[in-house]
Amino acid sequence: MSPREFPDFVERGVDLATRTTLALPGQAAFYARITSTGQLARLTGNWSLRRFALGGGSNVVLGGDFDGLLLHLAIGGRELIGEDENAWYVRAGAGENWHQLVAWTLAQGWPGLENLALIPGTVGAAPIQNIGAYGLELADRFLSLEALDMQSGRLLRLDRAACRFAYRDSVFKQQGWHLDAQLVITRVTFRLPKAWQALTGYGELAAELERQAVDHPSAQQIAAAVIAVRSRKLPDPATLPNAGSFFHNPLVDATLGARLQQIYPDLPCYPQPDGRIKLAAGWLIERSGWRGRGLGRVGMYEKQALVMVNHGGARRAEVMALASAVQADVRQRFGVELTPEPIIL
Ligand code: EPU
Repeated sequence: MSPREFPDFVERGVDLATRTTLALPGQAAFYARITSTGQLARLTGNWSLRRFALGGGSNVVLGGDFDGLLLHLAIGGRELIGEDENAWYVRAGAGENWHQLVAWTLAQGWPGLENLALIPGTVGAAPIQNIGAYGLELADRFLSLEALDMQSGRLLRLDRAACRFAYRDSVFKQQGWHLDAQLVITRVTFRLPKAWQALTGYGELAAELERQAVDHPSAQQIAAAVIAVRSRKLPDPATLPNAGSFFHNPLVDATLGARLQQIYPDLPCYPQPDGRIKLAAGWLIERSGWRGRGLGRVGMYEKQALVMVNHGGARRAEVMALASAVQADVRQRFGVELTPEPIIL
C-alpha cells in the first residue's frame, strides 16, 4: 500500500510530543487512531513504509521525525468472558488504560492484578515487556492474547508459552516484532485465580502496609499501598515527563554477583532460579553519582535514579547522550552493562 491509497482515517503530519510520556518533540509522517481490529486489518499487507504500534507512549523513546505510519492502538472494551471454580477470565482491548483495568477488576471483586496498580500505559503494550512490579508480573496472570499479523492480515492467538515471557521480555522483543509492528496485539485475556493470596513480600510494599498498620490486607488495600509507594517515588509524566525505569535491572553471573556483594554489602541483589543474580540498576546509578544529576535538559530523577526525566524541551539526542554517559560510568565502576528498558526508535 502506498500513502496515496491510505484509507481516509489516516492523518498526515502528527505531533509526537503529546503522544509519549517522555514528550520529545517530533512529527510522524502518518498517523492512524485504531479503534477496532477491522480498522487495523485495512492497513495490513506488504509495505515499504515503516509501521509502528503505539499504546500509551509510556515506554518509548520517540522523537525527531518518524517517516512511517504510527498506529495508535485505541481498541476498547473489557469483559468477564468466563468463570469456573478456579478462576475468572477477563478480556480487555489493547487500548484500555492499564491502571483503569486493574481498578475495574478490583471493584468487580476479582483480585489478582493489585500489585500492578498505577503502572502507566495500555493493556496491549503490557505483554510486550511483561510489565511487573512489587513481586508480580503480567505473565503470572496472563492467559492469551490476540494479535494481527500485519503482513498476512491473519488474526493469531498466542498463549502463555508462545509469548515466552521473561523479566521485562517476551517473544515480541525477542523477535523484534515490536519495532516495526509485524504482529499487533489487539486484545488480551487474563486469568485471575479464585484462590487469591496477598503478595506482600516486596520490601517497600511490606513497609508501606506496616506504616498503614494493615495486618491482613485485602487486594484493594494492597493496591492502595502500591499507589502510595509509586506516587512517592515515581514522577507523574503530566508534571515531569519520563518513560519510567530507563534501564533493566541487570542480570549478572554468580561470580561477578558474589564479588560485587563482597565489596558492596549494601548492594541490593536478587538471586534468580537460573543461578544468575539480578542487581538494582537504580543503586548502581546512584552510586555512580547520577541520582538527581543530568546532562542538558535531561536528568536521572532525584527520588529514583533509574528514571530518566525530561526537565523541559529535551531532544532525543540528549536522552541518548545521558543514557551513554550513565552506562559508561556504571561499566567503569562496577563492570556491569546496563541495557535500556524503553523501546528506542
Ligand atoms: N535504589 C537505590 N537508589 C535509587 C533507586 C533504587 O539505591 O536511586 C535501590 C532501592 O533502595 C532498592 C532497589 O534499588 O533497594 C530497588 O529499587 P525499587 O524498589 O525502587 O525498584 P527498581 O528495581 O528500581 C523495579 C522496576 C519498576 C517497579 C519497581 C517495583 C525495573 C527496570 N524496574 O524498579 O518498574 O515499579 O521495581 O517493583 O525492573 C518500570 O519498569 O518503568 C518501573 C517503574
